[in-house]
Amino acid sequence: MTKTIISVVGARPNFLKAAPLHREFLKNPSRIQSLIVHTGQHYDEAMSDVFFRDLELPKADFHLEAGSASHAVQTARVMMRFEEVVESARPDWVVVFGDVNSTLACALVCAKEHIPLAHVEAGLRSFDRQMPEEINRLLTDQVSDLLFVTEAAGVENLLREGIAQGRIHLSGNIMIDALMQHEAKADRSSVLSDLCVQPQTYFVMTLHRAGNVDSPDILRGLVRLIGGIGARRPLVFPVHPRTSRKLEEFGLLGELRSAPRVKLIEPLGYLDFLCLTKHASGVLSDSGGVQAETTYLNVPCLTLRQETEQPVTVERGTNTLARLDPEEVLRWVEAICEGKGKKTQPIPYWDGRTAERITEVLLKH
Ligand code: UD1
Ligand code: UDP
Repeated sequence: MTKTIISVVGARPNFLKAAPLHREFLKNPSRIQSLIVHTGQHYDEAMSDVFFRDLELPKADFHLEAGSASHAVQTARVMMRFEEVVESARPDWVVVFGDVNSTLACALVCAKEHIPLAHVEAGLRSFDRQMPEEINRLLTDQVSDLLFVTEAAGVENLLREGIAQGRIHLSGNIMIDALMQHEAKADRSSVLSDLCVQPQTYFVMTLHRAGNVDSPDILRGLVRLIGGIGARRPLVFPVHPRTSRKLEEFGLLGELRSAPRVKLIEPLGYLDFLCLTKHASGVLSDSGGVQAETTYLNVPCLTLRQETEQPVTVERGTNTLARLDPEEVLRWVEAICEGKGKKTQPIPYWDGRTAERITEVLLKH
C-alpha cells in the first residue's frame, strides 16, 4: 500500500529540513507518495525560490500563499487553506518541521482532522515563552503523534511534558543531512570572490529574531556593535527582510551602511551561505540553523541570545552564548582573531542519515 505523506514548508529553515526527507521518500516510490505544501510564509525569491533550486526540491504540489501578516492572521490563513488541502488529499501522514507559524498552523489542522502528524525537530526548548517559536514548539509537540528529536536534551524535555516515550525518536539533525548532501556543490560557489573576501579573514553576521530586531534600542545597540566588529575585521551581513524593514523604520540604515568594512548584502541562497560560513573566521548570529551548521563545520559561532534551545551546540560544538554586551562580544571577536575558537566533538546521529531513520519509523507506523 502506498502512503501519501505531505511535508509542510513555509519559511526559510523549513526548506532545508524538508529537502533531505523528500529525497529519501523518493527512494521508496512504491511505498510513499511524497507531496509538498508551501504555505507561502516566506515568498521573496531570496527567501524561498532559491532554496528550491539549491536543494533540488520540486515545485510545491500545493501553494497556500499565506504571505506576511500578524501572528493571528498568518496562522489563521494557513489553517484555513491547509484544511482544504488535507480534506482533498487525505494524507496518511503530515510532517511539519521546526518552530515557525506555519508549523503550528498545520499541526492544529491535523489534530482536528485526525490526520497523523509527525514533528521533525521536536522537543527543543528555550524556556522563554516570550519567543513566538517557543509557543509554536510547545503546542506542536503536544498534538504530534511522532516526535523526531535532534539531541538528547529534547527527549528529556518531551518526557517532562508528559509525552509518551514510544512516540519520541532521537533521530538526529536533518539539517546536517542537507549540509552533507550539498557541501561539495557549495564548495564550487563563487561567493567569496564575488564579495572580495579571503578565507579565514572575515566574520559573518545574521540577525532576525523579533527579540533582537523589533526594538529600536536593541537594534541601535547591535548596529553600533556591528561597526565595532567591522573596525577589527571585514563583516559580511546578509540582511533578513524583517531586519531590513526594522533598520529602515528605526532610521538606522544610514549608520550601518557607513560602517567601514561592513558588507550589507541581500539574503544569500543556501549554497552561497554554506560556502561563506565554511570559510569564515567566525559567525555571529541569532539563527537556530546557523548554530547547528557552524557546529558541524567547526566554525566558531557566537549566538547573540541569552539561551539556546540546542544546548548540544554549546556542550559539544563551537557555539558560545552572549548577552548583547559589546565588550563581551568584542572580546570573543578578538579571541577568534587570535585563533582561540572552540572545536567541535562528534554529536550522536548528526551523521547525514536522519532522513533515513525518520522514513523507517514513518513506514513502520
Ligand atoms: C520566521 C519565523 C522564525 C524563523 C524565521 C526564519 C515565525 C513566528 N517566525 O521569522 O521562527 O526563524 O522565519 O527566517 O514563524 N518578509 C519579506 N519577505 C519574505 C518573508 C518575510 O519581506 O519572503 C518580511 C515581511 O515584512 C514580514 C517580516 O519579514 O512581515 C517577517 O516575516 P515572518 O515570516 O512573519 O517572520 P520572520 O521574522 O521571517
Ligand atoms: N541561510 C541562507 N542565507 C542567508 C541566511 C541563512 O541560506 O542569508 C540559511 C542557513 O543555512 C540557515 C537557514 O537559512 O541555517 C535558516 O535560516 P534562519 O536563520 O532564517 O532561520 P532559523 O534557523 O533561525 O529558524
